[in-house]
Amino acid sequence: MKIAVYPGSFDPVTNGHLDVIKRSAKVFDKVIVGVLDNMAKKPLFTPDERVDMIKKVASDIENVEVYAFSGLLVDFMKQFDSAVIIKGLRTISDFEYEFQMALLNKSLNPDVETFFMMTDSKYSYISSSMVKEVARLGGGIDEFVPCDIIKEIDKKIKNGGHR
Ligand code: PNS
Repeated sequence: MKIAVYPGSFDPVTNGHLDVIKRSAKVFDKVIVGVLDNMAKKPLFTPDERVDMIKKVASDIENVEVYAFSGLLVDFMKQFDSAVIIKGLRTISDFEYEFQMALLNKSLNPDVETFFMMTDSKYSYISSSMVKEVARLGGGIDEFVPCDIIKEIDKKIKNGGHR
């Protein structure tokens, strides 16, 4: 059974993320979405809220599971017996950072391979930070995130986040 892990902050999950989840679920037997619990990034949503939002929008994909994690990605992967990391690439500017991370993870665990998936061009300019910025400034975010979670995002922005 080929199990891949798709890690990220997902603060919040976007249409671009969901596209990568759906496409990887067709390629691998199981896709574990790993939500990084990283206080340093000052996330808007708690890890549990982010996990719940992804579960909601990916509920129709049966071979996807979602968990929060802290610590090293390669350690999180071990519990699922996974040696494949999925990363989405939007632009050339993503490449340098992702290349560095892929090499770092490889040196932490030589068995781990990183697979890059080109983001669908219609999502290439979407990021979680951009979604938050647009929502904060009162713009509509329905083109950027799954409609099931729009209300949740707007509500959170109005309340100023959890931390
Ligand atoms: O969505 P993001 O914030 O770009 O995702 C970054 C993420 C979670 C993939 C990366 O920060 C990560 O893998 N962190 C886990 C800690 C770790 O393993 N670090 C060493 C490899 S970078």
